Amino acid sequence: MSILNELFHLLLLLPLTLGTKNYGDALAKSILFYDAQRSGRLPSNNPIPWRGDSNIGDCVPGGWHDAGDHVKFGLPLSSAATLLSWSLVQFKDGYEKAGQLDQMYDMMKWVYDYFLLAWKPGQQKLCVQVGDGDADHKYWGRPEDMDMDRPCKFVSENTPGADIAGGTAAAMAAGSIAYRQKDAAYADKLLEGAKSLYNFAKGHRGVFTGGAPFYGSSGDADEMCEGAMWLYKATGDQSYLNDTMSYVDLGVAWGLGWDDKKLACQGLLYEATEEDQYKRAVEGYFKNWFPGGNVTYTPCGLAWRIKWGANRFTANSAFMALLAAEMGIEPTKYRKWAVEQINYFLGDNNHDGGCFSFEIGYGSKFPRNPHHRAASCPDPPAPCTNDQEKAPGFSPHILQGALVGGPDKDDSYTDVRTDYIHNEVALDYNAGFQGALAGIVHLQAVGKMPATNNKCPC
Ligand SMILES: *[C@@H]1O[C@H](CO)[C@@H](O)[C@H](O)[C@H]1NC(C)=O
Ligand SMILES: *[C@@H]1O[C@H](CO)[C@@H](O)[C@H](O)[C@H]1NC(C)=O
Repeated sequence: MSILNELFHLLLLLPLTLGTKNYGDALAKSILFYDAQRSGRLPSNNPIPWRGDSNIGDCVPGGWHDAGDHVKFGLPLSSAATLLSWSLVQFKDGYEKAGQLDQMYDMMKWVYDYFLLAWKPGQQKLCVQVGDGDADHKYWGRPEDMDMDRPCKFVSENTPGADIAGGTAAAMAAGSIAYRQKDAAYADKLLEGAKSLYNFAKGHRGVFTGGAPFYGSSGDADEMCEGAMWLYKATGDQSYLNDTMSYVDLGVAWGLGWDDKKLACQGLLYEATEEDQYKRAVEGYFKNWFPGGNVTYTPCGLAWRIKWGANRFTANSAFMALLAAEMGIEPTKYRKWAVEQINYFLGDNNHDGGCFSFEIGYGSKFPRNPHHRAASCPDPPAPCTNDQEKAPGFSPHILQGALVGGPDKDDSYTDVRTDYIHNEVALDYNAGFQGALAGIVHLQAVGKMPATNNKCPC
């Protein structure tokens, strides 16, 4: 009798526990990932005990290290900051419900402060890179121990880079909206910076070619479009909206990422104008991404775009799907898809017997060996050298919140530190992921969680 009772109890609990994820916890951890990427002199409230001051002599100190390396690359940096700012603007209540609003403001101020230092309107000069990609990538060790030269690259009147300048203007303008109610003076500073940087970029079009072979951009119109749209949202000034007419591309995007913001601009334009042409572009994108389109699906249901860091393109699409749903585009369908994709990351997969999280630190099974130098280094005074990249055993530090590159198209994945294709972490990998998590907590708060049906439920 009592056994039957217990069985009955278990059966009752099963549908509740199956698929139940703690999205707020995943969100909190993602914030910690960005805090672990901090460069410069760390504040006293630094939440990452194994990180300390690093590269305080940079021409522009502060900001975030790009990935497992320690370069500060302007394009992925601004790209991530723009998506993160968007998530704070649109899903502030999600951050609030998760008890993470203060942490999010604190995290974002770090990167906005960096942009305010990197852009010098008086000199018409934007610092777009700190560190030498080749030299940096030959180094394995702690950021705190680095003593190599960290040369800086600039966009200026004679060296165009409207891709990075436009993208940075977008991040600052979005940041000004995010900060408006919290600190109006700071929001004004960001907005003034965004305006002057956007005007500079508008007068000096062209992509930045000095960054090659790292993060070379295929065009600057998408970032200019995003910059104009965020300035329009921040100011209501019609001239910015007019500007977008010369930038916007109505083609269906392949994905949303550091190089291609077409989809983001189409979405922002649809939100602002409610014109069908923009809606059709967004719908065309998701037609490709939803089942039956031309994005590959893994057996467990991950929409898999590409081998190198598959997860980030999916995560960015999930965030955009949640935003499109807020704009009224088939909300139930778009939300269901987005939540299912995030569920895959948080355990609804078959790796390691299932319930494996591709977000480090979430749940009980997650990557232990991301391609990340700082996390791989033991505490000083133990040395950390090139040997550490291949050292056996788990990385000594858990890089909380980082979403690793992701599985192959057959769901296979191995947790190997040297594998930067499947197991690196990066600023741009986490941005849409975190935005989607904020969106999902928002949906929970307002009682609009869709019913989901993951193929490999945890
Ligand atoms: C925006 O474009 C419209 C139509 O071309 C024009 O009438 C209007 O004056 C422009 N507004 C600004 C502020 O440039
Ligand atoms: C996917 O299909 C669309 C048309 O629906 C096409 O424009 C696009 O090139 C296709 N993409 C790939 C990667 O096959």
